[in-house]
Amino acid sequence: MASVWRARHRDFPTPVAVKFIPSDLEKGEDGHERLLREGRILARIDSPRVVRLLAIHDEAPRPFLVLEELRGEVLATFAKTRGQVPVRVTSRLIRGVGAAVEEVHAAGVVHGDLKPTNVFLTRVLQGAQHGLTVKLLDFGVSRSVEERPLESDRYPAGTPDYMSPEQVLSPLDPRTSWDIWALAVLAYHLLTGAAPFDAHSLVSTFLRASSAACLPPSCLRPDLSPRVDAVFARAFRRDPERRFRTVLDLVRALVDALGHCHDAPVVASSGVRLRNAFTPTL
Ligand SMILES: Nc1ncnc2c1ncn2[C@@H]1O[C@H](COP(=O)(O)OP(=O)(O)O)[C@@H](O)[C@H]1O
Ligand SMILES: [Mg+2]
Repeated sequence: MASVWRARHRDFPTPVAVKFIPSDLEKGEDGHERLLREGRILARIDSPRVVRLLAIHDEAPRPFLVLEELRGEVLATFAKTRGQVPVRVTSRLIRGVGAAVEEVHAAGVVHGDLKPTNVFLTRVLQGAQHGLTVKLLDFGVSRSVEERPLESDRYPAGTPDYMSPEQVLSPLDPRTSWDIWALAVLAYHLLTGAAPFDAHSLVSTFLRASSAACLPPSCLRPDLSPRVDAVFARAFRRDPERRFRTVLDLVRALVDALGHCHDAPVVASSGVRLRNAFTPTL
């Protein structure tokens, strides 16, 4: 885990974000090598949907990355304040995150740690209105075809709730299926407020993900149709060959299924019906 600070940098006129590994977290592992690899991977991805790298400072004793400073909030905060995110909003968010992940894959990179704290929502002015745009961050466990594996890549790295069985079993064989699985977990989480294979540890989550079907999301949220259940049943098949093959395939199927659902009206405790005033333009 890294430390990220807002900072002033002599070479840049506006504030930047600085990312480094705090000394108490180094633990003699290859943390610095990982951080520098994160920088090199970011340098290879030129996309407005990915946090922009401004500089890599490979300086002993503490290398650091200089990143554009993002303003807004992480998707985790956004989702937490909303509980179950409205269907149309989820659809737009998944399209935005999906487009970002597609660009990452096109650059020969597997993100490996897609989750709500690694997705940033920034506000942008579009015409007269403010919209939200997605930026992916945290390429700390990402893998690239251009990079040789590090010693610690032999062990599973990522976030248990979001890791596919093959990411846990074969950490030396990065695949786009890792991110496609994680994107499905993220969508499930946004829609239901719960993780599909929530358990106490990497091992128990892995056992659930590889041996049991997830609870159909319509059981947790009746306004979701059986079509949505079918998308998640396919996304979480044990065999990656029987899942969606690309990010785009998953996004298309999910957006289509969500298009057949209607958000249940939100009713305030006073009994007054609330409009969903929030419409991100992604
Ligand atoms: N460029 C940035 N601008 C603003 N906030 C950032 C930026 N990069 C990271 N953060 C914040 O710092 C948190 C941790 O950064 P992250 O790169 O995810 O490192 P890690 O999860 O490995 O500690 C993010 O969840 C986000 O809240
Ligand atoms: Mg992170």
